[in-house]
Amino acid sequence: MEVIILPGAAEVGRFGADRIAAVVSRAPRAVLGLATGSSPQGIYAELARRVAAGTLDLSGVSGFALDEYVGIPADHPQSYAAVLDRDVVRPLGLAPSRVRVPDGRAPDLEAAAVDYDRAIAAVGGVDVQILGIGANGHIGFNEPTSSFASRTRIKTLAPRTRADNARFFASPEEVPTHCLTQGLGTILEARELLLVAQGEAKAEAVAAAVEGPVAAICPASALQLHRRVCVVVDEAAASRLRLADYYRYTHARKPDWQRP
Ligand code: F6R
Repeated sequence: MEVIILPGAAEVGRFGADRIAAVVSRAPRAVLGLATGSSPQGIYAELARRVAAGTLDLSGVSGFALDEYVGIPADHPQSYAAVLDRDVVRPLGLAPSRVRVPDGRAPDLEAAAVDYDRAIAAVGGVDVQILGIGANGHIGFNEPTSSFASRTRIKTLAPRTRADNARFFASPEEVPTHCLTQGLGTILEARELLLVAQGEAKAEAVAAAVEGPVAAICPASALQLHRRVCVVVDEAAASRLRLADYYRYTHARKPDWQRP
């Protein structure tokens, strides 16, 4: 696992965008796994800036959302379908027909979840999965004690997650109680994982994910099982990492031949 500590959110966004741009320059039809929420916003904004400047073309890329609320109307401004359309698909110039979001309104949610994993497999899998991390250690909406072998499925959002996401809704009661989320097993099949976190509120979860035991109580600790993971955090989110100095030392001395 590569852990990169950068001064602030702006640098985290630029670093993440560099990683995505590098993958797309090698594979213009790359498949991206798209997290929503605040954490990847800097990456998306920086990618959008490059697309607008004409220095990056993402029109061949496909995307798969990590998750979607159950029961939320697709045109609700906080449905992840709407968020991705607004913050990612349009500003990054992605083809809407190549971006999928789990269908949280499907009459048969279990079938929709199975279909979703099939659709990911049908395009050959995800090249880079962008991830945020919940303050309780979730990735996607795999709440604590999710199985490391889990596939896309229905989950109940933890009260902490609903409280954290209430900022996006008119009232805390409006936050949906259930979601469809890629499973930890689904996420681990991506060829590369890029987790971003900013702020003190994420420090404990980041430390547990990176340096704690691999345990279902911290779903993000599943990242330790993947061969190609980059965790990019600002100083505040890094503040509980015991080996922070070692990560800085390693990053500063990374030879050019080792760069992706
Ligand atoms: C979003 C997702 C979640 C968020 C996490 C952090 O699609 O799957 O795991 O990444 O809840 O949310 P933010 O970034 O808003 O702090």
